[in-house]
Amino acid sequence: MTTIPVTKISSSECSRPVPVIAMGTATESSIAGIEVVKPSILIEAVKLGYRHFDTAAIYQTEKPVGEAVAEALRLGLIKSRSEVFITTKLWCNSADRHLVLPALKQSLKNLGLEYVDLYLIHWPFKANQEKSELPIPNECIAAIDIKAVWEGMEECQNLGLTKSIGVSNFSAKRIEQILSFAKIPPAVNQVEMNPLWQQKKLNRFCKENGIVVTAYSPLGATGNNAWGHNRVMECDILQGIAESKGKTVAQISLRWLYEQGVIIAVKSFNTERMKQNLDIFDWSLTEEELNKIDQIPQRRHLYLFGFINTEHNDLNLGLEYVDLYLIHWPFKANQEKFELPIPNECIAAIDIKAVWEGMEECQNLGLTKSIGVSNFSAKRIEQILSFAKIPPAVNQVEMNPLWQQKKLNRFCKENGIVVTAYSPLGATGNSAWGHNRVMECDILQGIAKSKGKTVAQISLRWLYEQGVIIAVKSFNTERMKQNLDIFDWSLTEEELNKIDQIPQRRHVYLIGSMNTEHNDVLTEIDAELD
Ligand SMILES: NC(=O)c1ccc[n+]([C@@H]2O[C@H](COP(=O)([O-])OP(=O)(O)OC[C@H]3O[C@@H](n4cnc5c(N)ncnc54)[C@H](OP(=O)(O)O)[C@@H]3O)[C@@H](O)[C@H]2O)c1
Repeated sequence: MTTIPVTKISSSECSRPVPVIAMGTATESSIAGIEVVKPSILIEAVKLGYRHFDTAAIYQTEKPVGEAVAEALRLGLIKSRSEVFITTKLWCNSADRHLVLPALKQSLKNLGLEYVDLYLIHWPFKANQEKSELPIPNECIAAIDIKAVWEGMEECQNLGLTKSIGVSNFSAKRIEQILSFAKIPPAVNQVEMNPLWQQKKLNRFCKENGIVVTAYSPLGATGNNAWGHNRVMECDILQGIAESKGKTVAQISLRWLYEQGVIIAVKSFNTERMKQNLDIFDWSLTEEELNKIDQIPQRRHLYLFGFINTEHNDLNLGLEYVDLYLIHWPFKANQEKFELPIPNECIAAIDIKAVWEGMEECQNLGLTKSIGVSNFSAKRIEQILSFAKIPPAVNQVEMNPLWQQKKLNRFCKENGIVVTAYSPLGATGNSAWGHNRVMECDILQGIAKSKGKTVAQISLRWLYEQGVIIAVKSFNTERMKQNLDIFDWSLTEEELNKIDQIPQRRHVYLIGSMNTEHNDVLTEIDAELD
C-alpha cells in the first residue's frame, strides 16, 4: 500500500494535513444519474492507499463515498473517520446565503458523516433551480452574491460541519474579492490544471495568499465525452518524456503536478490505473524535462459554455474579459431569444452611434481589450469614425480569392483597421452559408497542383499575403494542421496575378440567410456590401 504524502491547508484547527492525491469521483453517467458509482470501487482505492476522496453534490457520488468510508471502517482498512479526507462542493442551485448550510447538511446526510474536511463553492455563479439539471437553462443562470455566500460558508466551518472551506473554478480576481471581506480566507481553489493548462499565474497568486490549488482533470479527463479530451495523453512532449523514463504519460502529468506543489484530484475506477497513478513519488523530473513541459502550448479546456449551459449567457465564457468584441451585423433584431431566420417584423435599423457608445463602455470597463465590427461596409465604418472616441480595431467580413474585398481592405488599412477574413475556404461543406466555388476553382486548383499544396492552403496563404487575420474553422486534426502549414512558402508574382483574375462573387447575403422575405433594412446592407 502506498502512503500518499500530505500537504497542509488552513482549517478550523490551524493547519491540517491533506493527502496530495484525491480520488476523483465525477463521471458523466453519475452526474446524469444513469449509473451509480459502486462503493466497492472506492474500497479498492482505500486498499491501495487513497485517503482523500473528491465528491460534489452534483456528482451524485456522496452516498457511495460515505458507504465506502463506513465499509472501510468495518473492514478495519482505516481505524477512524479522521484517517480519510473528504472534499465536497456546494452546487450552484444552493449558491444563496440561506441555502448554503442546508446544502451542506444534505451532503453530510448523503455521506452519512458528521463533518467533511473541505467544502468548496463549485462555480462562481448561481443557478435559480430547485433541482440541479444540466445543461442549466439560460434563464436560471445569475451572478453570485459572493459576500453573502461566503458568509454561509464561514458559518458551516464555525459550526464544525466542515474543517476547511474553499472555492473551485475561481479566478484570482474573484478570490481577491473574497479576501477583501473574509473572516476565514479560502483554504483551497480547485481548478482545471495539467501540463496543457499549467495555471502558472493562478498557482503563484494562490501560493502568495496561502491558498492551495487542487488540480482537477490532471489527465485532461481523457475518455470522458462531456468535459474531457485526449490532448494530455496524446501530447508529443509528454509521450517523449514518458518513453525515455519508462513511465506512462499519466504518471508524467501527475508527477509534474506534484512538483508544482498542488493537490491532485485524479479519477480512475480501474485497479491497475489507480495503482499506477500513485506510483509517482520515488522518482522525479529532470530540469531538462521540466523545461520541455514549460514549452507545451497552453490551452484551457473546460468552459461553462457548452457543458453547463448551451445558450448564450453573459457568464458563458467563464472569462473576465474577451480580447475582441464585434458588432456582428449592422442591423438590429427585436427578439428576446435568438432565432434564425429572423422574422421580418423584428428587423430594424441599428442606431450605430448609441450602440458604438455601448461598445466603448465595454472596452472602458476592461471587459474587452478591443472593439470592432463585422459585415460593415466602408460607408458604415466612416460613420462610426465620425463620432467614435475609440475607433474600431477590426472589421470581420467574408473574404477569399473569389471575393477579394480589395477596396474594403484598402479602406480599412488606410484607417488603421485590420480586416478579418471569414469563410476563407468558402465555408465549403456548410449548407447554411457555404459553397464549393473556392475549393473547386480551376485557377486555385492549378496553383495547388503545381506547388504540391491543397486548394485550402493556397487560399489561406493568399489571404495571409493580403495582411489580414484569417478565421478558418476545422474540427479535423489533419486539416487543422494543414491550415497552419502556410508560413514557410509563398505565392509567386505570376500566381498572385492569376488569382487577381478570378471572377469576383460575394456569397453571404442577409436576404436568404437571416431572413427570407423582402426587407428594406437588409436589402440596403446587402447592396452596400457588394
Ligand atoms: N471542481 C470542478 O469543477 C471539477 C471539474 C472536473 C473534475 N473535478 C474533480 O476532479 C476529478 C478528476 O478529474 P477528471 O475526472 O475530470 O479527469 P482525470 O482524472 O484527468 O481523468 C479521468 C479519466 O482518465 C482515465 N485514467 C485515469 N488514470 C489513467 C491512467 N493512468 N492512464 C490512462 N487513463 C487514465 C480514467 O479512466 P478509468 O477510470 O477507466 O481509469 C478517466 O476516464 C473528478 O473526478 C472530480 O472529482 C472537479
